[in-house]
Amino acid sequence: MLHPALTTLEQRFSDSPIQKVDDTLLQQAGVELWLKRDDLIHPVISGNKWRKLKYILNHALHKKMHTIISMGGPWSNHLHALAYAGKQLGLTTKAFVRGEKPDVLSPTLRDVLAWGMEIHFVSRHYYRELRQYRQFDSLPDLIPGEYWLPEGGASPLALQGVHEIVTEIPVQYDSLAVAVGTGTTLAGLIAASNHDTQIVGIAALKGAAFLDDDVKRLIAPEEKANWKILLDYHAGGFARTTPALLAFIQQFEAQQRIPLDRVYNAKMLYALYDQIQQGLFPRGSRIVAIHTGGLQGMRTMTSRCD
Ligand SMILES: Cc1ncc(COP(=O)(O)O)c(C=O)c1O
Repeated sequence: MLHPALTTLEQRFSDSPIQKVDDTLLQQAGVELWLKRDDLIHPVISGNKWRKLKYILNHALHKKMHTIISMGGPWSNHLHALAYAGKQLGLTTKAFVRGEKPDVLSPTLRDVLAWGMEIHFVSRHYYRELRQYRQFDSLPDLIPGEYWLPEGGASPLALQGVHEIVTEIPVQYDSLAVAVGTGTTLAGLIAASNHDTQIVGIAALKGAAFLDDDVKRLIAPEEKANWKILLDYHAGGFARTTPALLAFIQQFEAQQRIPLDRVYNAKMLYALYDQIQQGLFPRGSRIVAIHTGGLQGMRTMTSRCD
Protein backbone atom coordinates (compact mmCIF):
# COMPACT_ATOMS: atom_id res chain seq x y z
CA MET A 1 0.00 0.00 0.00
CA LEU A 2 1.26 3.45 -0.86
CA HIS A 3 1.99 5.56 2.21
CA PRO A 4 -0.48 8.49 2.44
CA ALA A 5 2.38 11.02 2.32
CA LEU A 6 3.45 9.63 -1.05
CA THR A 7 -0.11 9.60 -2.36
CA THR A 8 -0.36 13.29 -1.46
CA LEU A 9 2.97 14.05 -3.14
CA GLU A 10 2.03 12.11 -6.26
CA GLN A 11 -1.21 14.05 -6.61
CA ARG A 12 0.91 17.07 -7.51
CA PHE A 13 2.54 15.26 -10.42
CA SER A 14 1.61 15.53 -14.09
CA ASP A 15 0.97 12.69 -16.50
CA SER A 16 3.75 11.39 -18.69
CA PRO A 17 2.40 11.60 -22.25
CA ILE A 18 3.67 9.58 -25.16
CA GLN A 19 4.66 11.40 -28.32
CA LYS A 20 5.62 10.24 -31.80
CA VAL A 21 8.90 11.59 -33.16
CA ASP A 22 8.16 12.96 -36.59
CA ASP A 23 11.25 12.76 -38.75
CA THR A 24 11.88 11.97 -42.41
CA LEU A 25 14.94 9.87 -41.51
CA LEU A 26 12.74 7.60 -39.46
CA GLN A 27 10.10 7.51 -42.17
CA GLN A 28 12.71 6.47 -44.74
CA ALA A 29 13.85 3.66 -42.47
CA GLY A 30 10.23 2.58 -41.96
CA VAL A 31 10.63 2.71 -38.18
CA GLU A 32 8.37 4.51 -35.72
CA LEU A 33 9.97 6.11 -32.69
CA TRP A 34 7.83 7.25 -29.78
CA LEU A 35 8.98 9.06 -26.66
CA LYS A 36 7.46 8.44 -23.25
CA ARG A 37 7.85 11.91 -21.74
CA ASP A 38 8.67 11.07 -18.13
CA ASP A 39 10.66 14.32 -18.14
CA LEU A 40 7.31 16.11 -17.83
CA ILE A 41 6.14 14.36 -14.65
CA HIS A 42 7.48 16.98 -12.26
CA PRO A 43 9.90 19.91 -12.48
CA VAL A 44 12.25 18.40 -9.88
CA ILE A 45 11.54 14.70 -9.38
CA SER A 46 11.34 14.18 -13.10
CA GLY A 47 11.91 11.22 -15.34
CA ASN A 48 13.02 7.94 -13.92
CA LYS A 49 13.84 9.58 -10.59
CA TRP A 50 10.30 9.41 -9.28
CA ARG A 51 9.78 5.97 -10.73
CA LYS A 52 12.84 4.66 -8.92
CA LEU A 53 12.30 6.47 -5.63
CA LYS A 54 8.58 5.88 -5.20
CA TYR A 55 8.58 2.38 -3.68
CA ILE A 56 11.92 2.85 -1.95
CA LEU A 57 10.52 5.85 -0.09
CA ASN A 58 7.37 3.84 0.56
CA HIS A 59 9.45 1.11 2.16
CA ALA A 60 11.35 3.63 4.29
CA LEU A 61 8.17 5.42 5.40
CA HIS A 62 6.38 2.18 6.30
CA LYS A 63 9.44 1.13 8.30
CA LYS A 64 9.17 4.48 10.11
CA MET A 65 12.67 5.52 9.04
CA HIS A 66 13.55 9.17 9.63
CA THR A 67 16.69 9.53 7.49
CA ILE A 68 17.70 8.44 3.99
CA ILE A 69 21.42 8.34 3.20
CA SER A 70 22.63 8.01 -0.37
CA MET A 71 25.50 8.86 -2.72
CA GLY A 72 26.08 10.65 -6.03
CA GLY A 73 28.21 13.00 -8.08
CA PRO A 74 28.10 16.82 -7.91
CA TRP A 75 25.45 16.96 -10.67
CA SER A 76 23.49 13.94 -9.51
CA ASN A 77 19.87 13.91 -10.64
CA HIS A 78 19.30 11.19 -8.05
CA LEU A 79 20.48 13.31 -5.09
CA HIS A 80 18.56 16.29 -6.43
CA ALA A 81 15.30 14.32 -6.54
CA LEU A 82 15.97 12.64 -3.20
CA ALA A 83 16.67 15.91 -1.37
CA TYR A 84 13.49 17.45 -2.75
CA ALA A 85 11.37 14.40 -1.95
CA GLY A 86 12.86 14.21 1.53
CA LYS A 87 11.92 17.80 2.22
CA GLN A 88 8.37 17.23 0.97
CA LEU A 89 7.97 14.07 3.06
CA GLY A 90 9.59 15.35 6.25
CA LEU A 91 12.54 12.95 5.97
CA THR A 92 16.11 13.93 6.75
CA THR A 93 18.47 13.32 3.83
CA LYS A 94 22.23 12.87 3.80
CA ALA A 95 24.61 12.17 0.94
CA PHE A 96 28.16 11.18 0.19
CA VAL A 97 29.28 13.29 -2.77
CA ARG A 98 32.11 12.11 -5.01
CA GLY A 99 35.33 14.15 -4.98
CA GLU A 100 36.71 17.12 -3.11
CA LYS A 101 34.57 20.06 -2.17
CA PRO A 102 34.83 22.47 -5.11
CA ASP A 103 35.32 26.23 -4.62
CA VAL A 104 32.03 26.82 -6.39
CA LEU A 105 29.21 24.39 -5.74
CA SER A 106 27.19 23.08 -8.69
CA PRO A 107 23.59 24.34 -8.94
CA THR A 108 22.55 20.77 -8.08
CA LEU A 109 24.43 20.85 -4.78
CA ARG A 110 23.20 24.36 -3.99
CA ASP A 111 19.63 23.09 -4.43
CA VAL A 112 20.09 20.00 -2.30
CA LEU A 113 21.63 22.06 0.51
CA ALA A 114 18.75 24.52 0.31
CA TRP A 115 16.34 21.58 0.67
CA GLY A 116 18.16 20.51 3.83
CA MET A 117 20.33 17.62 2.61
CA GLU A 118 23.51 17.14 4.61
CA ILE A 119 26.41 16.48 2.27
CA HIS A 120 29.83 14.92 2.87
CA PHE A 121 32.49 15.10 0.17
CA VAL A 122 34.41 11.83 -0.04
CA SER A 123 37.44 10.61 -2.02
CA ARG A 124 36.84 8.68 -5.22
CA HIS A 125 38.33 5.63 -3.52
CA TYR A 126 35.90 5.79 -0.59
CA TYR A 127 33.06 6.52 -3.02
CA ARG A 128 33.82 3.33 -4.98
CA GLU A 129 33.89 1.36 -1.72
CA LEU A 130 30.40 2.56 -0.89
CA ARG A 131 29.09 0.78 -3.99
CA GLN A 132 29.50 -2.59 -2.27
CA TYR A 133 26.62 -1.82 0.12
CA ARG A 134 23.49 -2.86 -1.72
CA GLN A 135 20.89 -3.43 1.02
CA PHE A 136 19.04 -0.68 2.85
CA ASP A 137 20.54 -1.78 6.17
CA SER A 138 24.01 -2.74 4.94
CA LEU A 139 25.96 0.50 5.31
CA PRO A 140 28.25 0.19 8.36
CA ASP A 141 27.45 2.37 11.39
CA LEU A 142 23.83 3.10 10.50
CA ILE A 143 21.82 4.08 13.54
CA PRO A 144 18.18 3.00 14.02
CA GLY A 145 15.92 4.98 11.70
CA GLU A 146 18.62 5.51 9.04
CA TYR A 147 18.00 3.95 5.63
CA TRP A 148 20.78 3.38 3.10
CA LEU A 149 19.96 3.96 -0.55
CA PRO A 150 22.63 2.79 -3.03
CA GLU A 151 23.89 4.99 -5.88
CA GLY A 152 21.22 5.94 -8.40
CA GLY A 153 18.50 4.21 -6.37
CA ALA A 154 19.82 0.80 -7.43
CA SER A 155 17.46 -1.32 -5.34
CA PRO A 156 15.05 -4.08 -6.39
CA LEU A 157 12.26 -1.88 -4.97
CA ALA A 158 12.99 0.67 -7.70
CA LEU A 159 11.83 -1.85 -10.30
CA GLN A 160 8.27 -1.66 -9.00
CA GLY A 161 8.00 2.04 -9.89
CA VAL A 162 9.60 1.53 -13.30
CA HIS A 163 6.97 -1.16 -13.95
CA GLU A 164 4.40 1.64 -13.90
CA ILE A 165 6.07 3.26 -16.95
CA VAL A 166 5.41 0.09 -18.93
CA THR A 167 1.79 -0.25 -17.82
CA GLU A 168 1.12 3.36 -18.88
CA ILE A 169 2.22 2.91 -22.52
CA PRO A 170 -1.00 3.07 -24.57
CA VAL A 171 0.39 1.82 -27.91
CA GLN A 172 1.67 -1.55 -29.15
CA TYR A 173 5.44 -1.67 -29.61
CA ASP A 174 8.29 -4.02 -30.50
CA SER A 175 11.14 -2.41 -28.56
CA LEU A 176 11.74 -0.30 -25.48
CA ALA A 177 14.84 1.87 -25.08
CA VAL A 178 16.37 3.76 -22.19
CA ALA A 179 19.65 5.38 -21.18
CA VAL A 180 21.69 3.44 -18.64
CA GLY A 181 23.61 4.71 -15.61
CA THR A 182 23.34 2.06 -12.91
CA GLY A 183 21.03 -0.12 -15.05
CA THR A 184 18.17 0.04 -12.54
CA THR A 185 15.64 1.61 -14.90
CA LEU A 186 16.60 -0.85 -17.62
CA ALA A 187 16.17 -3.72 -15.15
CA GLY A 188 12.70 -2.40 -14.32
CA LEU A 189 11.73 -2.34 -17.99
CA ILE A 190 13.02 -5.90 -18.46
CA ALA A 191 11.18 -7.17 -15.40
CA ALA A 192 7.93 -5.53 -16.50
CA SER A 193 8.00 -6.70 -20.13
CA ASN A 194 7.15 -9.94 -21.82
CA HIS A 195 9.68 -12.00 -23.73
CA ASP A 196 8.55 -10.69 -27.14
CA THR A 197 9.67 -7.12 -26.44
CA GLN A 198 13.24 -6.20 -27.30
CA ILE A 199 14.73 -3.97 -24.62
CA VAL A 200 17.74 -1.81 -25.42
CA GLY A 201 19.81 0.11 -22.92
CA ILE A 202 22.36 2.69 -23.98
CA ALA A 203 25.27 3.10 -21.57
CA ALA A 204 26.14 6.70 -20.68
CA LEU A 205 29.54 5.75 -19.32
CA LYS A 206 32.61 4.24 -20.90
CA GLY A 207 33.80 0.72 -20.13
CA ALA A 208 30.42 -0.28 -18.77
CA ALA A 209 30.45 -4.02 -19.58
CA PHE A 210 30.00 -4.70 -15.83
CA LEU A 211 26.44 -3.38 -16.17
CA ASP A 212 25.27 -6.71 -17.59
CA ASP A 213 25.92 -8.37 -14.23
CA ASP A 214 24.38 -5.47 -12.29
CA VAL A 215 21.18 -5.73 -14.34
CA LYS A 216 21.09 -9.53 -13.99
CA ARG A 217 21.46 -9.16 -10.23
CA LEU A 218 18.54 -6.71 -10.11
CA ILE A 219 16.18 -8.89 -12.15
CA ALA A 220 17.19 -12.17 -10.43
CA PRO A 221 15.91 -14.80 -10.05
CA GLU A 222 14.25 -14.10 -13.38
CA GLU A 223 16.42 -14.78 -16.39
CA LYS A 224 15.61 -13.15 -19.69
CA ALA A 225 17.52 -12.89 -22.93
CA ASN A 226 15.46 -10.19 -24.68
CA TRP A 227 17.69 -7.28 -23.68
CA LYS A 228 21.08 -5.79 -24.41
CA ILE A 229 23.16 -2.78 -23.47
CA LEU A 230 24.86 -0.83 -26.26
CA LEU A 231 28.28 0.12 -24.90
CA ASP A 232 29.69 2.25 -27.73
CA TYR A 233 27.61 5.42 -27.56
CA HIS A 234 29.22 7.01 -24.48
CA ALA A 235 30.82 9.78 -26.60
CA GLY A 236 34.14 9.46 -24.79
CA GLY A 237 32.85 8.89 -21.28
CA PHE A 238 30.34 9.99 -18.69
CA ALA A 239 29.18 13.60 -19.28
CA ARG A 240 31.46 13.89 -22.31
CA THR A 241 30.30 14.88 -25.76
CA THR A 242 31.53 14.80 -29.33
CA PRO A 243 30.87 17.33 -32.09
CA ALA A 244 28.61 14.73 -33.74
CA LEU A 245 26.57 14.33 -30.54
CA LEU A 246 26.27 18.10 -30.09
CA ALA A 247 25.14 18.51 -33.71
CA PHE A 248 22.57 15.76 -33.20
CA ILE A 249 21.19 17.45 -30.07
CA GLN A 250 20.92 20.79 -31.83
CA GLN A 251 19.07 19.31 -34.77
CA PHE A 252 16.79 17.10 -32.68
CA GLU A 253 15.84 19.90 -30.30
CA ALA A 254 15.19 22.31 -33.15
CA GLN A 255 13.07 19.84 -35.12
CA GLN A 256 11.18 18.13 -32.32
CA ARG A 257 11.07 20.91 -29.72
CA ILE A 258 11.93 18.35 -27.05
CA PRO A 259 14.83 19.24 -24.73
CA LEU A 260 17.53 16.62 -24.17
CA ASP A 261 20.12 16.32 -21.46
CA ARG A 262 23.56 15.53 -22.85
CA VAL A 263 24.52 12.95 -20.27
CA TYR A 264 21.76 10.40 -20.80
CA ASN A 265 18.90 11.06 -23.20
CA ALA A 266 20.89 12.65 -26.02
CA LYS A 267 23.20 9.63 -26.14
CA MET A 268 20.24 7.28 -26.05
CA LEU A 269 18.51 8.98 -29.00
CA TYR A 270 21.75 9.39 -30.95
CA ALA A 271 22.31 5.64 -30.56
CA LEU A 272 18.78 4.81 -31.69
CA TYR A 273 19.03 7.02 -34.76
CA ASP A 274 22.36 5.44 -35.62
CA GLN A 275 21.05 1.90 -35.19
CA ILE A 276 17.90 2.70 -37.16
CA GLN A 277 19.95 4.16 -40.01
CA GLN A 278 22.13 1.05 -40.03
CA GLY A 279 18.98 -1.01 -40.52
CA LEU A 280 19.32 -2.73 -37.15
CA PHE A 281 15.62 -2.25 -36.40
CA PRO A 282 13.41 -4.02 -38.94
CA ARG A 283 11.16 -1.95 -41.19
CA GLY A 284 7.72 -1.69 -39.71
CA SER A 285 8.95 -1.82 -36.12
CA ARG A 286 7.90 0.57 -33.40
CA ILE A 287 10.24 1.67 -30.62
CA VAL A 288 9.15 3.40 -27.42
CA ALA A 289 12.05 5.29 -25.79
CA ILE A 290 11.80 6.59 -22.25
CA HIS A 291 12.77 10.26 -21.79
CA THR A 292 14.22 10.09 -18.29
CA GLY A 293 14.53 13.84 -17.68
CA GLY A 294 17.82 14.96 -16.14
CA LEU A 295 17.63 18.51 -17.44
CA GLN A 296 18.47 20.06 -14.07
CA GLY A 297 21.97 18.63 -14.40
CA MET A 298 22.58 20.75 -17.50
CA ARG A 299 22.67 24.02 -15.59
CA THR A 300 26.25 25.30 -16.02
CA MET A 301 27.51 21.80 -16.67
CA THR A 302 30.51 22.18 -18.94
CA SER A 303 30.56 18.85 -20.66
CA ARG A 304 33.88 17.90 -22.14
CA CYS A 305 34.08 17.47 -25.87
CA ASP A 306 36.50 14.99 -27.46
C1 LIG B 1 18.29 11.52 -16.47
C2 LIG B 1 18.74 10.13 -16.23
N1 LIG B 1 18.50 9.21 -17.17
C3 LIG B 1 18.90 7.94 -17.03
C4 LIG B 1 19.58 7.54 -15.91
C5 LIG B 1 20.01 6.13 -15.81
O1 LIG B 1 19.23 5.45 -14.89
P1 LIG B 1 19.75 4.13 -14.19
O2 LIG B 1 20.75 4.57 -13.14
O3 LIG B 1 18.52 3.58 -13.57
O4 LIG B 1 20.37 3.28 -15.21
C6 LIG B 1 19.87 8.45 -14.90
C7 LIG B 1 20.62 8.07 -13.69
O5 LIG B 1 20.11 7.60 -12.74
C8 LIG B 1 19.43 9.79 -15.06
O6 LIG B 1 19.68 10.72 -14.14
